[in-house]
Amino acid sequence: MTETHPRDPHHAPEDPMAARDATASPQPQQPTNVHELRLLRLLGGWPDTSATPAPVQDLRSEALREAIDRIPLRFRDARPEHPYLHEWIDAVLDQALPSVSGMRRISTGPSLLMVGGTGTGKTHQAYGAISTLIQSGCGMQWTAANAADLYAHLRPRHGHDSEAAFLRVIRSPLLLVDDLGAAKPSEWTEDITYRLVNHRYERMLPTLVTTNLAIADLRDRMGDRIASRLSEMTTRVVLAGRDRRRSGAA
Ligand SMILES: Nc1ncnc2c1ncn2[C@@H]1O[C@H](COP(=O)(O)OP(=O)(O)O)[C@@H](O)[C@H]1O
Ligand SMILES: [Mg+2]
Repeated sequence: MTETHPRDPHHAPEDPMAARDATASPQPQQPTNVHELRLLRLLGGWPDTSATPAPVQDLRSEALREAIDRIPLRFRDARPEHPYLHEWIDAVLDQALPSVSGMRRISTGPSLLMVGGTGTGKTHQAYGAISTLIQSGCGMQWTAANAADLYAHLRPRHGHDSEAAFLRVIRSPLLLVDDLGAAKPSEWTEDITYRLVNHRYERMLPTLVTTNLAIADLRDRMGDRIASRLSEMTTRVVLAGRDRRRSGAA
């Protein structure tokens, strides 16, 4: 699973080039994060220009690059093609909130259930949507989890705070749960999935879910509490066609 721990853009490491410049010139050392910049301004130690200051711009591009780098290589160049995905992206962007770093922060938004056979491009489309949001300056804090990996990651075990890990996942501003229903179900997987879906459902947090199963099969496999919430909170995007892996058209 790709649980992201996006580096807080306010805590970017120092650029070695900037450090060299600072020692070579009598200028005050550049603030390296937004908090420091604001503090310096409050103390009168850094000029308050109306233009976006360079350090913030640097942080922005660094954070964007890092967020994109977390997309698995196979899907890094994916772009959303389905019109519902574009509508979803617009809706999430509309509801996003401004933040001090110049990026936007995802707050609430609709969710999508992407349904289709193996190899029809569900994961590709989902990462394409995440990538578009990131490039729009939104969605730095995203988490993607293949459902089977997620269960493995969250299984209670000695020395691992599974509940804390679970909370990090379900609270992620943007969450992709890939291949829901593919793992062997059990009472425990049903319970954890129910808690995840219910959390996102109640708070209206933008969530992408992909599955091979039709909704009726999803109900049989995951239980009605999950299927019922997914039907209300998501728009269904059906991906048809051949298995792109086998047809060589991937
Ligand atoms: N629209 C697309 N354009 C190009 N390649 C695609 C597209 N959709 C899927 N692929 C490729 O096809 C393969 C299967 O896609 P994937 O998203 O993994 O399918 P699924 O998740 O439905 O099983 C991957 O190699 C993926 O990169
Ligand atoms: Mg997939």
